[in-house]
Amino acid sequence: MRGKTVLLIIGGGIAAYKSLELIRRLKERGAAVRVILTHAATQFVTPLSASSLAGEKVYQDLFSLTDESEMGHIQLSRSADLVVVAPATADLMAKLAGGHANDLASTTLLATDKRVLMAPAMNVRMWNHPANQRNLRTLKAEGVLFVGPNEGDMACGEFGPGRMAEPDEITDAVASYFNTDEHALDGLKALVTAGPTQEPLDPVRFIANRSSGKQGYAIAGALARAGASTVLVSGPVEIEPPSGVRLLKVTTAREMLAACEASLPADVAVCTAAVADWRPEIAANNKIKKEKDAAAPTLRLVENPDILATLARHPQRPHLLIGFAAETESVVEHAAAKRLRKGCDWIVANDVSPHTGIMGGDRNTVHLITAKGTESWPELAKAEVGERLAARIAQSLKGQAA
Ligand code: CTP
Repeated sequence: MRGKTVLLIIGGGIAAYKSLELIRRLKERGAAVRVILTHAATQFVTPLSASSLAGEKVYQDLFSLTDESEMGHIQLSRSADLVVVAPATADLMAKLAGGHANDLASTTLLATDKRVLMAPAMNVRMWNHPANQRNLRTLKAEGVLFVGPNEGDMACGEFGPGRMAEPDEITDAVASYFNTDEHALDGLKALVTAGPTQEPLDPVRFIANRSSGKQGYAIAGALARAGASTVLVSGPVEIEPPSGVRLLKVTTAREMLAACEASLPADVAVCTAAVADWRPEIAANNKIKKEKDAAAPTLRLVENPDILATLARHPQRPHLLIGFAAETESVVEHAAAKRLRKGCDWIVANDVSPHTGIMGGDRNTVHLITAKGTESWPELAKAEVGERLAARIAQSLKGQAA
């Protein structure tokens, strides 16, 4: 982040106190931080604390004569490399989605020619409100980047999505943005599978697994940020799809395969989904009832299609086909054998033993196995694994060393 400037707009929410910590984190990583406080934000943090931490004056007023003579609001909006809104309140999201410009923050958001990264924070009902969700979709479609919100206890005593992402997560998202070449994959098409699949036994029961989908979503986000037109075929997970990605939601392995085949051709496909290897032979139309004195039913399973292997043999095989290997022992050896068995070009191996915390967690330690050998990457945030992989994909597809 050295040499980069972040324009941080602090909105009026209880999470604003965390934005002071965010200023520190960004500065520790080398960024210069220029701050705008909305009027409401000053109810939660003072201009003096923001300015002391940023080491610069903070901006608050659209019609300040001194500010306009020193740095006009248009110049302020252009002076940064990235605009970060944290906390992004429902009001700030609505203003940008609706094109309003009646104070310094909203005017700056409308006037900027730089990317905007929002870290929303609001009550769970406000977050889920159709009007807010509509604004979210509009902003995403227009290229606004998002980090969070996270799920958890809220200051108002309710529980659910709406907590602002932590300062470290927002800093990581800023770093991701600066690390990404936004045109590296321009003109290319990417397909990503993510999450578990659910295989029904009857209308209320299913077989599934613990995959959270986080790694696949992070990869799809990184590919889209690098300019690829990206389709994300996802099993049932409850995470926000990244900006700029076309999301196809499916439930079963067979639906996932059909959605993948319908999305071909693709230049690159990354199969991160933890597809259920088997499904119940029969999915009952009605709930299976417990009959008095009857023995427990026997579950007969049949094999599901292997999506990665099917794509490898497909007449429209993606030019670069990447699989994931979830292993719990002899990770690299098993994954290398899997690469050959499935016919993919690269395989990303990770150890999913419970003690690693990888399944469901935010970090990952992976090995990238190609025909040329194995690279072991250090432990990274899943977002960073996504970026590195997107950069490697760009190198490979643009004809440089893989
Ligand atoms: N995969 C797939 N379709 C399946 C099973 C797996 O596309 N029906 C893909 C996964 O998305 C991943 C790769 O194959 O990219 C390896 O998945 P993994 O679960 O590690 O391997 P399995 O095929 O289940 O093999 P094993 O049981 O030997 O671990």
